Amino acid sequence: MRVTGFLNGFWGLAQDRTLELDSTLLSGILTDGGTILGTSRDKPHRMPIGGKTCDMTDAIVDTFRRHHLDALVCIGGGGTLKNALRLKQAGLNMVALPKTIDNDIAMTDSTVGFDTALGIATEAIDRLHSTASNHSRVIVVEVMGHRAGWLGLEAGTAGGADVILIPEIPYDVDQVAEAIRERARLGKRFSIVVVAEGAMSQLDANNVEKLVRKKNTGSKKDRETASTALRQFHAGHVSHTIELTRRLEKLTGQESRLTILGHLQRGGTPSAADRVLATWLGTTCAQVIKERKFGVMLAVQASKIRPVPLEETAGKKKLVPLDHPLIEAARWVGVRFGD
Ligand code: F6P
Repeated sequence: MRVTGFLNGFWGLAQDRTLELDSTLLSGILTDGGTILGTSRDKPHRMPIGGKTCDMTDAIVDTFRRHHLDALVCIGGGGTLKNALRLKQAGLNMVALPKTIDNDIAMTDSTVGFDTALGIATEAIDRLHSTASNHSRVIVVEVMGHRAGWLGLEAGTAGGADVILIPEIPYDVDQVAEAIRERARLGKRFSIVVVAEGAMSQLDANNVEKLVRKKNTGSKKDRETASTALRQFHAGHVSHTIELTRRLEKLTGQESRLTILGHLQRGGTPSAADRVLATWLGTTCAQVIKERKFGVMLAVQASKIRPVPLEETAGKKKLVPLDHPLIEAARWVGVRFGD
């Protein structure tokens, strides 16, 4: 098989910018994080060009045909899958591979990147324990995860967090403060609070729910107002952990500090488990292309890789179910979720 890489995500297809992925070029990249191709979040049907938004789907289809490709393999998360489905609908032979540190793709148990991010976030929490315990502080650690709390839940559990706040369980700040005060009463003079970036207070979650309902079912005007309000909320929510840390300091009377791990979680050397998963998905992908099974994402299900139609996974999020056994296990070991 000949493998042609396209540079910078869908831009490479729109502008026909390629890199031949031969064995010399690929030699030695197993241990590198990120991608040698570059990437982008721009979507084929909404590419910003000269101050305008252009639909580049036809140009992408032309590039596919010009190169006489058998298949286009898209590697990424939720956005990538939706775009892969759009290109399938435009007539291209698509195969998608799940890769996101959020582990929030429907139909697959795992995604490439999650295990590495989990390791980095856990190590960061381990290191923060020193300052927390030596200075008797509350340390709030923000981890990635806008909609899904997998990283927060697993890194928090592995790192021995005292409180874990995830988007799926809206929190009450008074309950969080009470959990910290209770620890102090028991002589535990520090607390670690792991917060997913998309975690929300119960009040915010109620407001967002109302806006989403309005956006989906309201009149045209209501839908527009709700969309704007939601956009504004999410833009402003970016700094909510700063406010949360301040409030916890006030409510507990304990010195509090915030650490935002941000993109540190998304770079550097991939973990062994991620390298194994990527190798397994990549080689299965080659077989699937050989068998000409297109329009699918390769999903890990109960230790097997299975092709699932893109329609069954694109646009769906795998959130942490409220009855997930890990939530119960964490509660058993004393973790509080602020509910
Ligand atoms: O979608 C994956 C993700 O890592 C999210 O957890 C995070 O919110 C987001 O990407 C950050 O995206 P960007 O690097 O574009 O700011």
